[in-house]
Amino acid sequence: MFSRRTSWDLSANRLARRLEELRAEGRELLDLAEANPTRCGLSWPADELGAALADPRVSTYEPTPQGLPEARAAVAEYLRGHGAEVPPERVLLTSSTSEAYALLFKLLCDPGDEVLVPSPSYPLLDLLAGLESAALARYPLRYDGEWHLDRAALAAAIGPRTRAVVVVSPSNPVGYALDREDLAFLEALCAERDLALVGDEVFLDTARPPRTTVAGARACLAFHLSGLSKVCGLPQLKAGWIAAAGPEERVRPALQRLELVADTWLSVSGPAQLALPALLARRERFLSPLRRRLEANRSALAREAAGAPFDLLRSGGGWAAVLRLGEVGDEEAICLRLLEERVVTQPGFFYDFERNGHLVLSLLPAPERFEDGISRIGAVLRYKRAQ
Ligand SMILES: Cc1ncc(COP(=O)(O)O)c(C=O)c1O
Repeated sequence: MFSRRTSWDLSANRLARRLEELRAEGRELLDLAEANPTRCGLSWPADELGAALADPRVSTYEPTPQGLPEARAAVAEYLRGHGAEVPPERVLLTSSTSEAYALLFKLLCDPGDEVLVPSPSYPLLDLLAGLESAALARYPLRYDGEWHLDRAALAAAIGPRTRAVVVVSPSNPVGYALDREDLAFLEALCAERDLALVGDEVFLDTARPPRTTVAGARACLAFHLSGLSKVCGLPQLKAGWIAAAGPEERVRPALQRLELVADTWLSVSGPAQLALPALLARRERFLSPLRRRLEANRSALAREAAGAPFDLLRSGGGWAAVLRLGEVGDEEAICLRLLEERVVTQPGFFYDFERNGHLVLSLLPAPERFEDGISRIGAVLRYKRAQ
């Protein structure tokens, strides 16, 4: 009765089952997997949000498939701040970055066509591609004290059905960040092989400067993806965008087609579009405390790592931290053990790490809770080492 692309294995894994049991027992948990900023004391005051949403035009409906011109102009202004000149006509609003991916997969892929994505990376990409009947192929990110693109492996992963290369920068969870040399390499490769370059740059504002965006691409068709969810910490607004870059003869037909796809759903709410310029202009209201939070929690982790049997891997940005476990055992077993200490963490295999032995933590929780959590992690791992 049902489509093959929804024939998922929906059974909960061991970690999810144990977490559910603890929650059902009403246990107080230190959730170091929490990635929702509105649950970590980083939410906007309701009156400020209410004011941004109080435009008198909210009572009328003006369907605009590409999005309201002033909202698109605000996105163009945001990108100018990142050194990329993208005219508002090359911006298309979406209800989220996830939806932006879905639109691009519809634009670029026939069923069975392939998109190259980084590995490790976050698991939503599998679902987003699968739901559009597109296939994923992976290229490795490698760590040698910093995360890098493996350029040779990426080029070798391109097959006859590859349609696009996705670069996530800074990437989730490892924090690989695009630089000018990698962008030049990707542009040249995509131009030569006639592929689109898709840049998921939702965490761009947390990258270490100098920051590079695919919105500055010239040589190939490129799409920058982002949204208020991560730029303003407002996932509940459901407003994101695609900004197209590259040669006009490629960008024009791409936008014409995307506009008709967007017109089919008209999924971005009017109030969100009207509020977008004011919210985006005030993004530092979220970003400044966010950066302080990321820094404080990362420093606490670095202190905990000294003398503990794990390494904190260096990151170029994003909201997550990755711990590489020493010889202390299986990552899933450690996550399960940590649950008994009331600490929620994620194992590397959720993110498709090449090898066992990684824990992924969100850097968003309030510092007192975060420090409590990581000292329990340190204690469990030291105990394991001593065994
Ligand atoms: C790298 C990355 N891209 C996109 C998204 C989804 O963003 P949105 O809420 O705009 O759909 C996430 C969510 O965690 C993410 O980590």
